[in-house]
Amino acid sequence: TSRMSVKELLQSGDCGKEVEVKGWVRTKRGNKQVNFIALNDGSTINNIQVVVDMEKVAEEVMKKVTTGAAIHVKGLLVESAGSGQAREIQANEVIVMGEADPEKFPIQPKKHSLEFLREVAHLRFRTNIFGAVFRIRHAMAFAIHQYFNDHGFYYLHTPLITASDCEGAGEMFRVTTLDPKNPPLLEDGSVDFRQDFFGKSTNLTVSGQLEGELGAMSLGKIYTFGPTFRAENSNTTRHLSEFWMIEPEVAFNDLEDNMDLAEDFLKYLIRYALEHCMDDLLFLSKRLQEEEKDKKAEERSMELIEKLQFVLNHEFERVTYTEAIDILKNSKQNKNGKFQYPVTGWGVDLQSEHERYLVEKHFKKPVILTGYPKEIKAFYMKQNPDGKTVAAMDVLFPQIGEIIGGSQREEDYNKLVTRMQEVGIPVSSMSWYLDTRRFGSAEHSGFGLGFERLLLFVTGMGNIRDVIPFPRTPKNAEF
Ligand code: 4AD
Ligand code: MG
Repeated sequence: TSRMSVKELLQSGDCGKEVEVKGWVRTKRGNKQVNFIALNDGSTINNIQVVVDMEKVAEEVMKKVTTGAAIHVKGLLVESAGSGQAREIQANEVIVMGEADPEKFPIQPKKHSLEFLREVAHLRFRTNIFGAVFRIRHAMAFAIHQYFNDHGFYYLHTPLITASDCEGAGEMFRVTTLDPKNPPLLEDGSVDFRQDFFGKSTNLTVSGQLEGELGAMSLGKIYTFGPTFRAENSNTTRHLSEFWMIEPEVAFNDLEDNMDLAEDFLKYLIRYALEHCMDDLLFLSKRLQEEEKDKKAEERSMELIEKLQFVLNHEFERVTYTEAIDILKNSKQNKNGKFQYPVTGWGVDLQSEHERYLVEKHFKKPVILTGYPKEIKAFYMKQNPDGKTVAAMDVLFPQIGEIIGGSQREEDYNKLVTRMQEVGIPVSSMSWYLDTRRFGSAEHSGFGLGFERLLLFVTGMGNIRDVIPFPRTPKNAEF
């Protein structure tokens, strides 16, 4: 057929040709003689204008052409006389495929709040804003595979059901096959959860890293890219119960190499967005400026595209945790009590307000923090000679705080086992992991990039629920 997408029509359709297009009505305006339909099919943020001569199309049909209706248009593609789009369709025929009763369809051609759209999350895809966000989400996923493929990494699929807890934080969703009405019981009458998974205790993975290390210690360079789960009852604009993580792991890389990889990777993705998603970025940028126009100048965020270019053009500042604590302790924000959690001294874990202070107020560029106290980091991180810190690295971004967490891994079998015992990780059930340190152990490093945190940054959206199609947060799992 001669049916084309709106994107194809706008970019490559030949003017003067008969074309067909199917899509959803965004708006309709006009008078008794002529109607103008803005039509969108999701292929691009841009609509194609359909001009309807009311002598050619029955009034009953045009009555059903309302916002949200699915229509099929046949007509002539012509140069547009008006400003805006370069092309439009002069309709010969309009067929209404699916009506959308204006009394009932919740998405109307006006500005809806993001809160309202979250309530009709199953329909929010039909808005410009979510179309833009999810096209960018696709582009970023594609770019991630492109980057790693171009750099000799292999995509490793790690399991979602596992018996281990990579981060050791106990934030796991139990996977169970037990019959809640008739579960196996322990002697004291409580449920024997050790039998969860047909006789074994299991949970949804919090990270694919441990399995990723096995891959790196054989394939050299691997990455994972899949859903991960955290049973953390936190309701913030930065946390999801189910989020996607990208975890590269590289044999023979030390912490320095790991930082270089993280910086190069993030910059590649941002450059990719600027080169491939400009229409959607411009739309989101305009929307943000609109939203912030009532704010005081100093509260307004940097213009979206400028902000992306800014990160591209600056070397990330590499700072130790110890230096960061000194900066934070002595900052005005800390002394005047403007931090919600004052920085009392060495050893405290950093909150996102501290991370953002370092990035936005102090260094004014992305920061990579290294050398965290071992007590606040996971068991697998390489211990530094000082006995107090580990070769950890967190990449901190403006507006986001932590976007990446990673480290060089402890490759020494004895040191690793000792650390596991100290923090109470059952060594006996981890022999599969420890074998990487028993046979051909070598230094290796990796990190995890939170996919939705990346998308928050690239799209400028303020809430992580708005960059994943079906957000999972505590108590929110309907569709
Ligand atoms: O810092 P995290 O917990 O690190 C790991 O899981 C390591 N195993 C990664 C590795 O070294 N291979 O998580 C990594 C990143 C964070 O920096 C953050 O961007 C994101 O995952 N993240 C979350 N994103 C959304 N919701 C949550 N609840 C998140 N928790 C972590
Ligand atoms: Mg972390």
